[in-house]
Amino acid sequence: MAGHRRGKPPLLNVALGALGALAALGALAALAACSGTASTGITAVTCGSDSTLTYANFGSAFMTDNCLSCHAARETPRLSTQAEVKSETEQILQAAVYSDAMPSGSSIALAERDLLGEWLACGAP
Ligand code: HEC
Repeated sequence: MAGHRRGKPPLLNVALGALGALAALGALAALAACSGTASTGITAVTCGSDSTLTYANFGSAFMTDNCLSCHAARETPRLSTQAEVKSETEQILQAAVYSDAMPSGSSIALAERDLLGEWLACGAP
């Protein structure tokens, strides 16, 4: 096979270059996620007297779907129980309602952040 050992085909090099650029972008995004991140535009939360959100009908599933892939075991704060979530209310508001720091590496709709804020403002019942 001597004579056939050329370098990588040019197209492959282009693809690898693009991957490298993507990886660099990803690293930047991860950095941004750790260091303050973007505001969501939500600056205050209130508990409407008509709020019907509870841990059973909202909070538990919200945490499972969006947070527990990391916060069940790997990451502090632990957010696996209603009591744990309640005790982290301020931090959760900062990380996932007022800013988009969490969920890290993915995103959730603003409307979902609104609901999370309302539920926490009501005391995470
Ligand atoms: C992909 C993994 C991952 C997911 C999903 C995730 N987190 Fe985190 N979370 C982390 C890591 C890692 C840290 C600690 C380092 C950091 O701040 O980036 C952290 C830190 C936090 C903190 C501490 C304050 C802070 O910003 O450092 C809070 C509060 C938090 N997460 C809440 C949440 C909530 C609420 C969700 C769901 C909406 C969520 N996280 C989803 C990985 C994750």
